[in-house]
Amino acid sequence: MRDWQGRVAIVTGASGGIGVYVARVLVERGANVVLVARSADKLATVATELSKLTDSKSRVLVVPTDVTSLPDLERLVSRTHVEFGQIDVLVNNAGIDGYCPFEKISHERISSIVDVNLTSAMHLTRLVIPHMLKQGGGHVVNMSSTAGQVGPAFGAAYGVTKAGLIAFTESLRAEYADRWISASVICPGFTNDGGIYEEMKRRTGRGTPATVGYTTAKAVAKAVIKAIEQDKPELIVNTPPMRPIFVLKAIWPTLGNWIVRQASRRFLKKIASQPEPSDSSVKAA
Ligand SMILES: NC(=O)c1ccc[n+]([C@@H]2O[C@H](COP(=O)([O-])OP(=O)(O)OC[C@H]3O[C@@H](n4cnc5c(N)ncnc54)[C@H](OP(=O)(O)O)[C@@H]3O)[C@@H](O)[C@H]2O)c1
Repeated sequence: MRDWQGRVAIVTGASGGIGVYVARVLVERGANVVLVARSADKLATVATELSKLTDSKSRVLVVPTDVTSLPDLERLVSRTHVEFGQIDVLVNNAGIDGYCPFEKISHERISSIVDVNLTSAMHLTRLVIPHMLKQGGGHVVNMSSTAGQVGPAFGAAYGVTKAGLIAFTESLRAEYADRWISASVICPGFTNDGGIYEEMKRRTGRGTPATVGYTTAKAVAKAVIKAIEQDKPELIVNTPPMRPIFVLKAIWPTLGNWIVRQASRRFLKKIASQPEPSDSSVKAA
């Protein structure tokens, strides 16, 4: 998909962090964008900012939604369809993290991480695909993480959901390849210009080690566009050391896992030792 004028994209997790950057690049290209998150006030602020991108003829629709609520998701899809009559792109970006020693993480926290990050993405995609089939095509983008490539210490629940999104994307591509529907997965490293990592830095007072690297939300948003325009199955967005380490892990798991552990364990342990934000069981960190 390269012609963006008149296209319609739903972006979840659009009230802050990466989602705002993704919505912006879509509007800049001329797509109509549906902004999705729970915080209606933040979405309204984002919509006002986007409407100031004067060259754009895009329309921006705000639909406050809890992605873990099936009735909310059904309302989101029908509202989008009524407003625009089509759904060309779905970006499943909403996500929460949770770094904690695994023996201490609550059952509720595990469930909410899985619900927000993985189950909701599958439910929303399931609701959107019939529209894409009817109109003859579409593209789903799932926001995974480098944590989906190698399970992180102290972040098992998070890593599982991100690995699940990689598998989900592969299944979608395999199943719909002959019906003009495609899917891509984006695996960002820590973003240093907004998003969950900012909160981690604030809580720990330190940044990621050089071997783990970093990226920017802006680069992640550009990757979303590249994935759709060039139909990329998977894009890893991070400074250089990570990609060769993942290749090494694929061919030599013992060594690859050891390197990732050495590079990241101390940083993640520090994050896991900090008290989480008070509403973290349901709110994006
Ligand atoms: N930033 C990074 O370093 C990084 C790295 C790798 C992957 N990622 C992934 O990128 C995605 C975006 O992360 P971010 O850093 O931009 O996080 P963020 O700034 O915390 O934003 C998370 C977004 O998800 C929304 N959200 C959370 N729970 C929701 C729910 N139940 N229903 C609807 N929306 C919900 C939040 O909005 P409300 O609170 O208003 O609902 C917010 O808009 C996540 O999937 C994350 O795992 C981020």
